[in-house]
Amino acid sequence: MVRRVGTVIPIGLFVCLLCFFSLFNIFVLSSWYNISSSKTTQDNSGPPVSKSSDSLRVRALSKEMEILRNEQKKFRDEMSVLEEKIDGILASRSGTKEQDTNNRVLKVHIWDDTTLPMGYREKKLYSVEGFSTHPRTTLVDSAEDADLIAWVSVRSNTEKEIPPTNYSNVVLLDYADGCNVHQKRGELKHMIGYFKRSFVLRDKDSVYVRNCTLEEVTGGIFPFSYSGLEALVNKDIHKERNTLITSVLRTEGTHNKVRSRVVDWTKSFIEQHGLKNKSSLGDVGSGYSASDFDHTYLSHLADSKIIVTCNPWNWEGDFRLWEALLSGALVMVDKMAIPHWMPHPFVHKKHLIFYDTTNQSEFNSLLEYYIEHEDEARRIGEAGYNFVLDHHMSKDRVSYILDNIESRIVLD
Ligand SMILES: *[C@@H]1O[C@H](CO)[C@@H](O)[C@H](O)[C@H]1NC(C)=O
Ligand SMILES: *[C@@H]1O[C@H](CO)[C@@H](O)[C@H](O)[C@H]1NC(C)=O
Ligand SMILES: *[C@@H]1O[C@H](CO)[C@@H](O)[C@H](O)[C@H]1NC(C)=O
Ligand SMILES: *[C@@H]1O[C@H](CO)[C@@H](O)[C@H](O)[C@H]1NC(C)=O
Repeated sequence: MVRRVGTVIPIGLFVCLLCFFSLFNIFVLSSWYNISSSKTTQDNSGPPVSKSSDSLRVRALSKEMEILRNEQKKFRDEMSVLEEKIDGILASRSGTKEQDTNNRVLKVHIWDDTTLPMGYREKKLYSVEGFSTHPRTTLVDSAEDADLIAWVSVRSNTEKEIPPTNYSNVVLLDYADGCNVHQKRGELKHMIGYFKRSFVLRDKDSVYVRNCTLEEVTGGIFPFSYSGLEALVNKDIHKERNTLITSVLRTEGTHNKVRSRVVDWTKSFIEQHGLKNKSSLGDVGSGYSASDFDHTYLSHLADSKIIVTCNPWNWEGDFRLWEALLSGALVMVDKMAIPHWMPHPFVHKKHLIFYDTTNQSEFNSLLEYYIEHEDEARRIGEAGYNFVLDHHMSKDRVSYILDNIESRIVLD
């Protein structure tokens, strides 16, 4: 309150000053105008004066007026910029004030459906870095005390999962691969949001076919994706990088069908360009970061200039994309749909490079371009890294969840 009064006074002063200056200017200008115009009429009716000196003087005065007018315009513009700044500060301040009084911090309970292993990546995303640190939420141990229950499911053993059936304000965060929806979603008596990862169906070439909204779900499905994690962040992205092209993709198994193709493309590109001794294909360290955030693997990514990655076959969304982006390297990934349905979509050639999994010549020319333009590759890599830090960390996923469901929360 005290602070608010403090700002109101200077604003009052500002407004008064503005009025005063405008009045002053109007007054000065109009009197000048009167002087000059009365002078001309007077001159017309008075004794004859040299016409040319007369018009010279009028021209000079007009010029001065013109200058004043311009200055006054500049003055007004500058004043309105200042006013806008003050309005902006006051608006954001009254916003926070309202939040302080009306929006209490939501107590969130992460539901244990008995199947999610301890330390699981998804758990880390939503407890350690998500709900527990977000300014609008705090974690509570008991479901009874919670305003919101987050049921995190990976559906590795759906049969065994025990859903928070009888609780109100349940949000289902479904991290399962593929397009189909959770078999036990209907058991929830009060689900206020269903967030589904891998929300799309792709064809044999991993090209987008459709999303999963065609499968009927009451209240709709919100598309969802993994995010960056603090443990993945490369702390020194400006350090010299020694590996030109990296791909850590695995090639065995059905879900790696298209990845395997992309690894072949990368391999032939590297061979044809004699880059074998500057590039790296295959596992380094544990080959992925998973829950233990393998240091060898992450420093290898951090030592790379270009990382070629690819989503799994048939669906979309993996953790490798976020590992790659947070290394600060230029990331090349197959075209994706989900990021475009969520806030702050990635922009091709600004934050990363999207390639087509059916067009090898396009893939080759993209790689060719960025090995020849390393500065540009580096700029995009850094832009992607910063974009993830700014908009795609766990806390941003929590904001996204809250923005979509907060109005549906029933508090007693
Ligand atoms: C939910 O409540 C119903 C009664 O309304 C009860 O029969 C059921 O066992 C409860 N389920 C759970 C999982 O507690
Ligand atoms: C998913 O597909 C349906 C049907 O094509 C469409 O109406 C809907 O807008 C899509 N959802 C998103 C999030 O794009
Ligand atoms: C890689 O090979 C090129 C020639 O193909 C050679 O000039 C370069 O020194 C080699 N670099 C390393 C690190 O071995
Ligand atoms: C593949 O990409 C190239 C270059 O970007 C383009 O000219 C060509 O039309 C594409 N081919 C197909 C089949 O899309």
